[in-house]
Amino acid sequence: MNITICDDERRFDITAANRIVGQIMSKPDSVIGLSTGRTTHAMHKIVGKLYAEMQFDVSAVTFFGLDEVVGVEPTYAGACCAMLHDELIDALALDDRQLLMLPTKSADFAHDCRSFKERLRQRGGIDLLILGLGENGHLGFNQPGTPFGQEAWVTCMDPQLECRIRRETATPDDVWLGGVTLGLKDIMHARHIVLVAKGAHKAAIVYRMLNGDVSIDCPASILQLHPHCEFLLDKDAATLVDA
Ligand code: GLP
Repeated sequence: MNITICDDERRFDITAANRIVGQIMSKPDSVIGLSTGRTTHAMHKIVGKLYAEMQFDVSAVTFFGLDEVVGVEPTYAGACCAMLHDELIDALALDDRQLLMLPTKSADFAHDCRSFKERLRQRGGIDLLILGLGENGHLGFNQPGTPFGQEAWVTCMDPQLECRIRRETATPDDVWLGGVTLGLKDIMHARHIVLVAKGAHKAAIVYRMLNGDVSIDCPASILQLHPHCEFLLDKDAATLVDA
């Protein structure tokens, strides 16, 4: 397996940012999928800084969000779209057509999921997908138990994240909150994947992902089967890894 372990968090953030910048430089019309959360915040900011310094060509790149929170306003600061704008898209001064997102609200999510995938396909398919890792092994909003053949869909979010979003948006318990996400089948169709994980709180699930059985109990274990997946870790997340 292709495992990269960085000495510290800063080196990890820079290495991950370099993967994104390198992809854009080597193929300017790349289609690049991004994940949001604590792991990817700093790397996105670094990509923006590198762009300010180097002015590489971003005129043909397409970014997209792997997933989105369902049931909140799209302007909510915790929505993936708002986070990606704040962390990266605005710094690159990209056109609206250069960021594809699944919607936070829709009358027909099944239709929107199909058309999202169609737009990715029309742009040539996914060149690079940066994936965060949930502490229960989830990828996107694909929680444990999700079939490996699952395509883009609306599902539940993990309880901790749901709790936080309810608190921040004052959403009452009787209003359903969920997540819309590319499925595991779609993820496996990406040409290149970089799974990113940092921090000691990810060490146990990183070990399970890399060394456990490939099983729907740990969605991220499917990545053991991907022919071009790099596992990019900081030292703290890699404490249990034999590399
Ligand atoms: C969230 C998101 C994922 C993200 C993951 C890790 O639930 N749906 O896209 O990659 O969990 O988040 P963090 O980096 O904050 O640990």
